[in-house]
Amino acid sequence: MNWRVMKTAAAAALALGCATAGAQTVEVMHWWTSGGEGAAVGVLKKDLETRGVKWVDMAVAGGGGEAAMTALRARAVAGNPPTAAQLLGMAVTDWGNEGFLGDLNDVATKEGWDKVVPPALQRFAKFDGKWVAVPVNIHRPHWLWMNAKIFNDNGLKPPTTWDEFNAVADKLKAKGITPVAMGGQPWQEATAWEGIVLGMGGPDFYRKAVIEADPASLKSATMVKVFDQMRKIRGYVDRNFAGRDWNLATSMVIKGEAGMQLMGDWAKGEVISAKLTPGKEILCAVAPGTQGSYLFNTDFFAMFKVGADRRPAQLTMASAVMNPSFQEAFNLAKGSIPARSDVSGDKFDECGKKSIADLKTATAASHVYGSLAHGHAQPAAIQRAYLDVITKHFNSDMGSKAATEALAQAVLAAK
Ligand code: GAL
Repeated sequence: MNWRVMKTAAAAALALGCATAGAQTVEVMHWWTSGGEGAAVGVLKKDLETRGVKWVDMAVAGGGGEAAMTALRARAVAGNPPTAAQLLGMAVTDWGNEGFLGDLNDVATKEGWDKVVPPALQRFAKFDGKWVAVPVNIHRPHWLWMNAKIFNDNGLKPPTTWDEFNAVADKLKAKGITPVAMGGQPWQEATAWEGIVLGMGGPDFYRKAVIEADPASLKSATMVKVFDQMRKIRGYVDRNFAGRDWNLATSMVIKGEAGMQLMGDWAKGEVISAKLTPGKEILCAVAPGTQGSYLFNTDFFAMFKVGADRRPAQLTMASAVMNPSFQEAFNLAKGSIPARSDVSGDKFDECGKKSIADLKTATAASHVYGSLAHGHAQPAAIQRAYLDVITKHFNSDMGSKAATEALAQAVLAAK
C-alpha cells in the first residue's frame, strides 16, 4: 500500500471511527411496556430512526413508574444516567434540584416552545427558568371505561354520579358480572380515589384537600364519603384483584370479563392496540361527577447532563418530541392528547376529542389541577403519605372516619 492509499484508508477509518463513537444514540428509560404503551414507544423510536438517532431501550416494567424510578436512581447515583428518562411532573423538579438535568434553552428558544406549551406544563418542564424536560402528552387519569355490549345487554347507561355508578355496579353484580376491573396497587387505588375526591367534592375541594393538603378538608365529612365510596368499590372488584397490572384489568373490560374500569386514558391505548374503537366497543366517560374539571398528568422526557458525545443525539430527541406531527402520531397511539396547544385534534377519536374540548372548558374555568396519583400535585414524600393511607384503607377493614384521621395525620407528618 503506498503512502497516499494508506493516508486515505486512515482518514476513512478515522471518519468511520468518529461516526461510530459519535453515533447518534439515545438511551431512554421509561415504564411503557403494555401493548398500547409499547406501540407509542414504537412511534418515538421510529421517528428518531428517521433522524439518524438509534434508540437504546431501558424499559422497566411497572405501571405508574415506581420500579423505573428506583432503577433510574441507581443509574444516576452511579454517575451513569441515561440520555433521557420518563418522569412525571414533580419528579422533574426533584431531579433538577439535585443538579442532574441539562439545559435545553437554546433549542427551546429556537423552536418557540414557550408559545405552544400550556403554562401548567411549563411549570414542570422548566427548572430555574430553563427548559430541562420535554412534555410528550397530556393524560387525564379520571376516566371510566365501559364494555358497550355488557351495558347494552343490561340496559345500562354510563353513570354520571357516584350513586348511579353504584346502581350500575349492583345490577352487574346481581347478574354475576364483575362490576369493576381493578388491579390492587397503590397508584391504581389512588387513581380511583382522586377521581372520587373530584367527583364528590368538586374542584375547590380537590384543590383544598389535595393541592393544598388542608387538614380540615382531609378530615371533612366529604372525605368520609369519599372513603365510603372506596369501600363500595372494594365490594365490586373480583377476588383476584391484588397486585394485578392495570392493563390486565383493562383487558378484562375489553374481553367482557368485567363491566367497568376507573383508569386514566392510557387504557385507551390498550383498546386501540386491541384494534377496537374507543367510544364504540369500549365506551368512555369521565369519572362520575367530574365533568367540567380536568386533572392532568404529563409524561416528560427529562434530559440528563451527559457528555459532549451524547449531547447532539439528546438535542435531536428533544426537538423530535416537540415536533407537532410527532405529538399527533404519538398521542394517537398512547391514548393521551398532545402537549402542544397548536396540534389539531381532527384525527383523534371521540374520547380524545372530548379530552381536548374538556381541557379547554376546564382551563377557562380555572378547574385544571395536577393528578396526585401521577406525581403532579405533591412532592414524592407527601404523595406517598396519601397513597399509604388510601391503600391501607382499601385493603383492610379500616373505617372511613379512621381513614380520614389517618390521612390528615400522615400528610401532616410528611410535610
Ligand atoms: C402513568 C403514565 C402513563 C401510563 C401509566 C401506566 O403514570 O403517565 O403514561 O403509562 O402510568 O403505566
